[in-house]
Amino acid sequence: MNIRPRRNRKSQAIRDMVQETWLTPNDMLYPLFLTEGSNQKTAIQSMPDIYRLSLDNILFEIESSLNLGLKAFALFPVVSESKKDKYATESYREGSFYLEAIYKIKQSFPDIALMTDVAMDPYSSDGHDGLVVEGQILNDETLPILSKMAVAQAQAGADILGPSDMMDGRVGYIRNVLDKSGYSQVSIMSYTAKYASSFYGPFREALDSAPKMGDKKTYQMNPANKREALLEAELDAQEGADMLMVKPALAYLDIIHVLKENTHLPIAAYNVSGEYAMIKFAAQAGCLNEKNAVLEMLASIKRAGADIILTYFAKTAASYLKNL
Ligand code: PBG
Repeated sequence: MNIRPRRNRKSQAIRDMVQETWLTPNDMLYPLFLTEGSNQKTAIQSMPDIYRLSLDNILFEIESSLNLGLKAFALFPVVSESKKDKYATESYREGSFYLEAIYKIKQSFPDIALMTDVAMDPYSSDGHDGLVVEGQILNDETLPILSKMAVAQAQAGADILGPSDMMDGRVGYIRNVLDKSGYSQVSIMSYTAKYASSFYGPFREALDSAPKMGDKKTYQMNPANKREALLEAELDAQEGADMLMVKPALAYLDIIHVLKENTHLPIAAYNVSGEYAMIKFAAQAGCLNEKNAVLEMLASIKRAGADIILTYFAKTAASYLKNL
C-alpha cells in the first residue's frame, strides 16, 4: 500500500490542516421570534431553549450574539389572533409592533444585517401565505399586499427582505416596487426552493400560524422534485434576487448542491424549526451528543454549498466555535 488516506487523519493538527470546510459565525444568520410588549420571554414547547421575546429582550439577545461574532438576524413577529385579518393589514400598518421593532433594532445596532419575512401567514386569519378566496390561494392578488409589506419593512430599516411564500413573480414585483419607492439598496433573499415540508411544524406553533384549512402544497414545492428548483432559481435570478435560499436544509442537501453548481448568486439554506427540534429532543433523550451533532449538521449544510445558514443553533454554535 503506497496510498494510505489515514495518514491525513493521524493527529488533530493534520486533520485541521486538511479540513475542507470550516464553519464560522460569518456563515450563520440567527432567526428570532418577536412578541409584543415588554419583559416577555415565553417558551415554545416544540423548540426547547428558543423563546418568543419582546423587543427589550430581543435587543439583549442581539447584543450577546454580537459578542459571539454573529452579525445577521432574521425577525419573525408573533401576531395576536385579534390583529389577524383576511388581507394581513397588520403587516404594513404604520406603528405596528413589528415595524417599530425593526426600526429600533437598526437604531441600536446599525451594523447588523437585519432580515425580515415578506409573507402573509403570520398576519392572515386564514393562516396562508397568500390571499384566500373561496378556498383558492390567489397568486397575482397577493402581490400588491406583499409589496406594501416590503416597502413598510424597508422603510423601517430592514436590510434584507425574505419573500417566503413561493408565489410566482413576487421577487420581480417587490424589486420593482422597492426601486420605485427609493429602496434600491434593500436586498432580496428569495425563498427560492421552499418545499411543502413537515419540518415547519414547530415554527407554526411558535407563531401560531398554521393554515386554518388545507395545506400549502399549491404553492410550496413537492419534496420529490429537484429540477423544478433550478427553474425557480432561474426565475428568481432574472427577477432580481440577490441571494437564493433552499428550505429546509437537512433533507435537501442535494438541492443546495445543485443550486450552488448551477447559479451564480450566494446560496442560503434554512435549517428549519423541525430540524432544530429533532436534535434537541434526541439529545434530551440521551440519543446523541448535542454539541457534536449540531456542528456536524451545520458543517454538512456548508459542505453541500450553503454560503449562509439560517439556524436556531446560531448562538449555541457560535459559542461552541469560540471554545473549540
Ligand atoms: C412562512 C414561513 C415559514 C417558515 C419561515 N417562513 C413556515 C411555513 O411556510 O409554513 C418556517 C421556518 C421554520 O420552520 O423554521 N412564510
